[in-house]
Amino acid sequence: MLVKSEGTNSQIEVIVDGDSHHFELAENGDTILDAAIAIDADVPFACKGGVCCACKAKVMEGSVKMDVNYALDEDEVEEGYILTCQSHPTSDKVVIDFDEI
Ligand code: FES
Repeated sequence: MLVKSEGTNSQIEVIVDGDSHHFELAENGDTILDAAIAIDADVPFACKGGVCCACKAKVMEGSVKMDVNYALDEDEVEEGYILTCQSHPTSDKVVIDFDEI
């Protein structure tokens, strides 16, 4: 029997316009933005290339890593801001707030 490895999923909570959305996501899977769009969360985005900053949100709990970041400065990253179109979870639980910008 073939056993497929699926990687460990993180529990993600995305808050946008006061609504909370919950889903699971693997570190090596879709970006947080794409996963949120897939469950019909009304999240903002434009370029999906790490350039425009439309998908900016704040990490309230947990940690993520970004593939690229051409829009946020160091201070913003230190404060917990991320480009969700480039972000993947790196902790068991991640809470992202789009209303905190
Ligand atoms: S959608 Fe443009 S930086 Fe993420």
